[in-house]
Amino acid sequence: MKNSQFKNKNVLITAGPTREAIDPVRFISNHSSGKMGYAIAEAFLQQGAKVVLVSGPVGLQLQHPNMQIERVVSASDMYLQCCRHFEMADIVVFAAAVADYRPEKIVAQKIKKACDILDIRMVKNIDIAAEFGLVKMPHQLSIGFALETNDELANAASKLRRKNFDMVVLNSMNDANAGFGFDTNKVSILKNRNYLKAFSLTSKKKAAGNIVAEIAMLLNEKMLLRADNAVDVYERMCW
Ligand code: CTP
Repeated sequence: MKNSQFKNKNVLITAGPTREAIDPVRFISNHSSGKMGYAIAEAFLQQGAKVVLVSGPVGLQLQHPNMQIERVVSASDMYLQCCRHFEMADIVVFAAAVADYRPEKIVAQKIKKACDILDIRMVKNIDIAAEFGLVKMPHQLSIGFALETNDELANAASKLRRKNFDMVVLNSMNDANAGFGFDTNKVSILKNRNYLKAFSLTSKKKAAGNIVAEIAMLLNEKMLLRADNAVDVYERMCW
């Protein structure tokens, strides 16, 4: 059933891994398949939203008249595409596994195996979600992911604060059949220090539906808050 809340809302989603080039034939990346981000895009499209999907290199296809797909390779490509679409977005979901570091220099020619040890100096990539957290407008919602191997809750809560997210989807690498590559996932949702909801293992499609339902609740709360504020302002004007 279509949730009219999302009708014509602009949703920006990042998905998949990024690849950071070492030389013309090699790169550094991670195991992200993009399945979770694509499933979230589908769930929003089913609810009547307009989606821009900024996707790293994955073997997935998705087409829909209400979706624009921007295919990118590196974290800086992903950042540039996000910058183009941030302003129009009502909701941003950062589902991509962005590489935190990239080689300081891309070697112009294929590196030959001349020495026994090869050192590659890495520099930090821009944190796309954190940058957006600094400039997001009151009407915009941002949702992040936290894939953790240890101290899961503490790390997810810290990301919620640091990146100014309205909600974090926590994935634990310790849960069987959840996370990278699987068609199933087990997520917990964190909205603030008093809101933690743990879902059981389910298909990524169903997990996406649960995530989008949680975002719908956030949107409702935000609209109610704005309506309350408007009544406050009106009452103050009348007095
Ligand atoms: N993220 C991002 N840009 C980055 C790194 C992360 O947009 N350069 C987003 C991810 O899409 C995710 C959230 O930030 O929604 C958390 O990503 P994660 O890799 O779990 O955390 P990091 O901030 O990179 O911290 P760490 O790797 O130290 O856990």
